[in-house]
Amino acid sequence: MAKRLPPGIGEDLDVPLYFNPYQDEFQKARRLRHCLSCKTTGSMNMMSQFTCPTCGIAHTSNLTAPRVFNNFLLLAGRGGGKTLIGAHAVREEMMVPNSIGWVMGPTYKILHDSTFPTLIRLIPPQWVENWDQEHMELRLTNGALVAFRSLEDPERARGPHGISWGWFDEAAQSPQRAYHVFQPTLIKAGGIVIATTTVLGFDWTYDEMERKALIHKEPGYWACRYWTEENPLFKQNPVMMAAIEAKRRTMPPDFFAQEYRAERRNATGLIYGKYFPKILVRGAGIKRFIPEYPDIDSSRQAIIGLDAGSDHPFGATLSIVTEPGIITVQEYLKRQVANSMHIDNIRYEFQPQRFTNVLWAANKNEAALRLEAALKGVGIMPAESKHEVGIQRVQSWCHSNQYFIYEDNCPKTAAQFQAYRYADNYTPDGTKKKNEDVHKIDDELPDTVRYGLMAFPSLPNAAIAIDEAAANRLAAMSDRDRQELEQMRKFTQKKTDGDRELQPTDAGFPLGDFHGASRADDFGEDGPVIGGRGNYVEDFW
Ligand SMILES: Nc1ncnc2c1ncn2[C@@H]1O[C@H](COP(=O)(O)OP(=O)(O)O)[C@@H](O)[C@H]1O
Ligand SMILES: [Mg+2]
Repeated sequence: MAKRLPPGIGEDLDVPLYFNPYQDEFQKARRLRHCLSCKTTGSMNMMSQFTCPTCGIAHTSNLTAPRVFNNFLLLAGRGGGKTLIGAHAVREEMMVPNSIGWVMGPTYKILHDSTFPTLIRLIPPQWVENWDQEHMELRLTNGALVAFRSLEDPERARGPHGISWGWFDEAAQSPQRAYHVFQPTLIKAGGIVIATTTVLGFDWTYDEMERKALIHKEPGYWACRYWTEENPLFKQNPVMMAAIEAKRRTMPPDFFAQEYRAERRNATGLIYGKYFPKILVRGAGIKRFIPEYPDIDSSRQAIIGLDAGSDHPFGATLSIVTEPGIITVQEYLKRQVANSMHIDNIRYEFQPQRFTNVLWAANKNEAALRLEAALKGVGIMPAESKHEVGIQRVQSWCHSNQYFIYEDNCPKTAAQFQAYRYADNYTPDGTKKKNEDVHKIDDELPDTVRYGLMAFPSLPNAAIAIDEAAANRLAAMSDRDRQELEQMRKFTQKKTDGDRELQPTDAGFPLGDFHGASRADDFGEDGPVIGGRGNYVEDFW
């Protein structure tokens, strides 16, 4: 029987791949292996062969020379070249004889219209042993098998054991369960996952991969994010760049940021998301708060918030009370040590003895932590533990422009704050749960701030917080309107106590251009991010 070839095979073999630094870094990270016999890290060649540069062993299995990274996440805007570089990557992977690889797409349509043809066009016809259209499986002459699966049903990600690589194209649109179902099939061959995707707010690729690679620097995770306009093909073509620019001008900014810059914006239920980036302070901006920085004056009030927990990392933040507001200047996030050790570590890192007034605060239910700290001479204030109340307190500080994070020193706090969100509060039958719960992942550092602010006796000074637009509007009102507004304010003041959400009539309630403040441009200087930490780097924090 003559061998069958998949349609389009080899058609793009001559199409040049231009240099894109993110795609390039991804390929480099993907090729890294660690020789277990001499403990050296080196790179595979472009045919996925690895000969240890030190001891010269030619490894044929990931088990004798594992991958430095085994979970890859490429986030990019539409047309950023995710599918193309994913295809180049797995084309190299399938050069390993007798390996099994899976290409997965969220729907048959996406798989069929984009992922499949992009990959097939990069494969030389002479590599092909046979193409099985019915099962969507490609057998190569080197014995490698490549299977294509669409994930309308996540159970379809359940493969045989011993898969070497799995590629989730448009991963965010695929069910999280598919990733969970697929992962165990990689154990036997020490395989890797590659996820290439545009984002859907804080979708599962954030929880499973991005935060592990970029915030926690967990071994084996690698991630990068880049923009559509960084596609080298578009970059050199003014018509294409103009098309992107037109989108930027006409699309809602958050939608543009999501679709073209892969920024996680539109998540419903983001708790502090709308205060970004205005609560971030960078570089010399710290001097506006603490002119004497980094030698913080000992007379300043310091607040140390703690979040203990055995099943998640121990978090702590140091915040300083200043004229323009409270600013978090140091952070601590570590797991797997006893509470008493954390107290010592935090004292070492934050140097609280340099301050005359230090307030330590933790969840009031953490009796054991208070006891351990007390033995070390640290008194911890029990802080109100209810989420609703504490979140409103933090929000009021943010609303009134009086809470800030010094991002240079506290990148994890900044990242966790931005991602902090309500859990999916719908039960499987579609009804809404009565109490809104917070998504219990990466909430340690926001919680430390929450406890700190709950224990701190002052409320934000709303009077100074009214922004210019609101002040102008107030000034333009007739005397009578202003009087009515005042009366309404007094009325609401009487009806409620301290812990409540700001009302539209409150001073400090954001008005005017406040909502317009978070334009895509404001995030521009963040730029794209890239990186991860290998499995075999020494400095585990
Ligand atoms: N580095 C590159 N060199 C040349 N062309 C590229 C490069 N990256 C992407 N492209 C091209 O840009 C277009 C969009 O790429 P694609 O991989 O489909 O984007 P995405 O999957 O991110 O939406 C395709 O025509 C692709 O061939
Ligand atoms: Mg694509």
